[in-house]
Amino acid sequence: MPTALIVLAAGQGTRMKSDTPKVLHELAGIPLFAHALAAGQALTPERTVLVVGPGAERVTDAAIAIDPDIHIAVQADRMGTAHAVAQAQGALAGFSGDAVVLYGDTPFIRPESLAAMQGARAAGNAVVVLGFEAADPGRYGRLVMQGAELLRIVEFKDASDEERAITLCNSGVICADAETLFDLIGAVSNDNASGEYYLTDIVGLARARGLRAAAVTCPEAETLGVNSRADLAAAEAQFQARARADALEAGVTLTAPETVFFSADTALGRDVTVEPNVVFGPGVTVETGAHIRAFSHLEGAHVGGGAVVGPFARLRPGAELSGDAKVGNFVEIKNASIGPGAKVNHLTYIGDADIGEAANIGAGTVTCNYNGVEKFRTQIGANAFIGSDTMLVAPVRIGAGAITGSGSVITRDVPDGALAVARAEQVVKPGVAARLFEMYKKAKRTRRGGT
Ligand code: UD1
Ligand code: CA
Repeated sequence: MPTALIVLAAGQGTRMKSDTPKVLHELAGIPLFAHALAAGQALTPERTVLVVGPGAERVTDAAIAIDPDIHIAVQADRMGTAHAVAQAQGALAGFSGDAVVLYGDTPFIRPESLAAMQGARAAGNAVVVLGFEAADPGRYGRLVMQGAELLRIVEFKDASDEERAITLCNSGVICADAETLFDLIGAVSNDNASGEYYLTDIVGLARARGLRAAAVTCPEAETLGVNSRADLAAAEAQFQARARADALEAGVTLTAPETVFFSADTALGRDVTVEPNVVFGPGVTVETGAHIRAFSHLEGAHVGGGAVVGPFARLRPGAELSGDAKVGNFVEIKNASIGPGAKVNHLTYIGDADIGEAANIGAGTVTCNYNGVEKFRTQIGANAFIGSDTMLVAPVRIGAGAITGSGSVITRDVPDGALAVARAEQVVKPGVAARLFEMYKKAKRTRRGGT
């Protein structure tokens, strides 16, 4: 059955108290709504429609960056969830199949739950709702069941005391045949306690037409919605707890799991070791057996098998470490490849560079990649030895097996196997230091008025 996704994200998110739209706040290093999109992608939807509020250009831009084929529907007035879904009808013209409605602010719905809903659809239910047993049902919509059949959903505000006692609640995720869905939505009224068009009303309307509805349940943790900064922090904690458990389960050693932070797409191979206080920003892959030492920060980086990173290392986007490379303390790598077994061990900046196999980069080396206007590359050949405190003024190429003398400012290419020294020649003046100290001491006494 072809599937279409409808992701609702037109809420104002007032409780975030933010100039940034709620769904653009980041969870696990990616925008909140990207989590719902990712869960939905597991259904390989034929079309995806994101319903946004007026003036949500930033949300639209972010959505297109994630999925260039996404359809954007604007809900000009926020008149309820049924009204929001109705805005997607135009974008789904000509589509036939199932529509799955997700909320942009509900990041943890698992693909398995969506698959179970599809199963219930295939079993002949016109409308399938994802429900959960709520520890504290609060203001959630209640699922009114009769045996295995879902009779209707009643919103908290409209519910009787008896209905409010129901603990099976609506997560908001709904799956129905698209044509039926829009047809039912056409019949929804706003004659209720909120004066809104409730999507939840389609269940009762379907039953009134002799169609069947069912509920599939999921753990409450999946349905966590983000409405405030506190919710966002709770969601982050929930994500991190799961990511740590998954990493351990996958054969990663975490010495202090609770101090390691992952992004949604962090990929760690088997037998990777991660020491305490490491942060994985978006886009990091670490291959088998690599060792990430304490207090390192990585984003947009690839770390080859057996490589060692840190302690206190920073890998920025485009850092590409081959197998067995070493990047040590207080080293920053950006948009640069570090060859197999190469060592960049201390206090160094390597940006826009390619470092050959087994090259050794001395402490305090800097690739001077930026002239204030443009960036240039540095190339360092295999087995080269860059002396400590070398300034490599790019564009520049150091040949294979070449050496640069410590403290050199290298502005011209160095051929393979050559030694380049670019620093002032050493001058030694016997006795001069002792005489200078005497002079300085005398000057100090004079200033204090002594003899
Ligand atoms: C909704 C459900 C409720 C369910 C709860 C789960 C309805 C009527 N109620 O209630 O049964 O238990 O979610 O969290 O559906 N949205 C729009 N445009 C609108 C209104 C909402 O895009 O006009 C979006 C919001 O951005 C949000 C989602 O729809 O992502 C849900 O809206 P919200 O107002 O939070 O619904 P609830 O009252 O919580
Ligand atoms: Ca809500």
